[in-house]
Amino acid sequence: MKTASLILDKDYKISQVDPRVYGSFIEHLGRAVYTGIYEPGHPSADENGLRRDVLELVRRLGVPVVRYPGGNFVSGFKWEDSVGKDRPARLDLAWKTTEPNSFGLHEFVDWCKKAGTSPMYAINLGTRGALEAKEVVEYCNHASGTFLSDLRIKNGAKDPFGIKLWCLGNEMDGPWQMGSKTAYEYGRAANEAAKMMKWVDDSIETVACGSSSSGMPTFGDWEYTMLSECYDNVDYVSLHRYYGNPHNDTDDFLASTMDLDEFIRTVACICDSVKGKKHSKKQVNLSLDEWNVWYHSHADDQKIHKNEPWGTALHLLEDVYNFEDALLVGLMLITILKNADRVKVACMAQLVNVIAPIMTREKGGAWAQTIYYPLMQASLFGRGTSLKPIIECEKRDTAHYTDVPDIDAAAVLNDDGALIVFAVNRSLSEDSALALDLRAFGDLRMLSHSVLHHDDMKAVNTEQNPDNVLPREITPDYNDGKVILPAASWNVIRFEKA
Ligand code: AHR
Repeated sequence: MKTASLILDKDYKISQVDPRVYGSFIEHLGRAVYTGIYEPGHPSADENGLRRDVLELVRRLGVPVVRYPGGNFVSGFKWEDSVGKDRPARLDLAWKTTEPNSFGLHEFVDWCKKAGTSPMYAINLGTRGALEAKEVVEYCNHASGTFLSDLRIKNGAKDPFGIKLWCLGNEMDGPWQMGSKTAYEYGRAANEAAKMMKWVDDSIETVACGSSSSGMPTFGDWEYTMLSECYDNVDYVSLHRYYGNPHNDTDDFLASTMDLDEFIRTVACICDSVKGKKHSKKQVNLSLDEWNVWYHSHADDQKIHKNEPWGTALHLLEDVYNFEDALLVGLMLITILKNADRVKVACMAQLVNVIAPIMTREKGGAWAQTIYYPLMQASLFGRGTSLKPIIECEKRDTAHYTDVPDIDAAAVLNDDGALIVFAVNRSLSEDSALALDLRAFGDLRMLSHSVLHHDDMKAVNTEQNPDNVLPREITPDYNDGKVILPAASWNVIRFEKA
């Protein structure tokens, strides 16, 4: 058994946790929409074709915001195609599929209400520009009395949608993106679009595209140059980050959050350097609006693209997640919470079928993948103030990372005084006795200890065996101020005032 320690003090605050860090993402891609959230004729579908079984899983997951409609898809998208009665089918060049547009803007807003979430809407700044951007804000958020707002009413929505959070395009630095741009071109386009969108509705917030990942050759320069052009009109810079374990090196895979942490801190520093240059009082924060594990489906996707071009609802990006993926997702959530002072929005990419915590079968069931559980527990319990954890534990080097701590943890003080510790033991072979120094909290009683662990790192959940990898409550054991974190485990430990 290894030993480790964690010091928490209620006065060592990082920041209030913005609930939107537990967000997610639905793109018109593969079976996310069609046969995912929307399947008319499915036994569980409501009168609008929304799958109730999926709605139930989304509500349980507790995602406060869902980014939509893309993703790479949005850079070729005309929002007008997705409203009204006559909807054209179009080629989607991003994913080589055919988009029928039978599910669109109104349907998504309706779905959000039923799912207990709110929309984060992305505009097309790849192949379109400021005019279309301001028009979709007017269509959605202006009360009435103009052509576009009255069109929304005519299309069935008397009340404005009141969408508050808007993405200014998607991954505009990537050559794979329709209408990709240089940092300067994008910064100018984002500035003009955001300015006009905010003139229509000054209550909205905007997210500028940061780099598609920290591995991009333009990373850093991109953020600095584009932000220099649009700083005053944007509220967040986006970060996207996916990890994989293609060489089956689990120690190295579980260390990937060292990279995520550095990525977040670097982008925050660049935002602040532009702030300094501009002598601005305003702080631009971060929107980690695509994050997850993504690699299991790569080989299958290549075959699908070759064999079924221009199909609809293809089985694209259908990663089947295993237990070790859930551990990394837990570590990513811990990293988000430890950066709660700058990360104000984060979207697990994505939500249903496409690199997703929820899977469905066409005409069949819906079930939760392994990665569902850390997000669900973080969203349920991680509301309040993120506290600075001081951790002492053994460290090891992995193939790509140095001094990787065995234990990583985040702590959140709920508004009712409950203290929640989220902790991962990265060691694959040894349990760890974690000594908790909960100074200045007074007497606390351990309420519960939930552990997500499986002896097989590659264990998965399926439609037939959906509960194979599940968090389990263990008997709270807080002897001598120590808790045992089993080898390879995600832990949620809850304390209340004694
Ligand atoms: O989430 C899948 C894709 O990953 C998104 O469309 C794109 O933004 C990113 O490259």
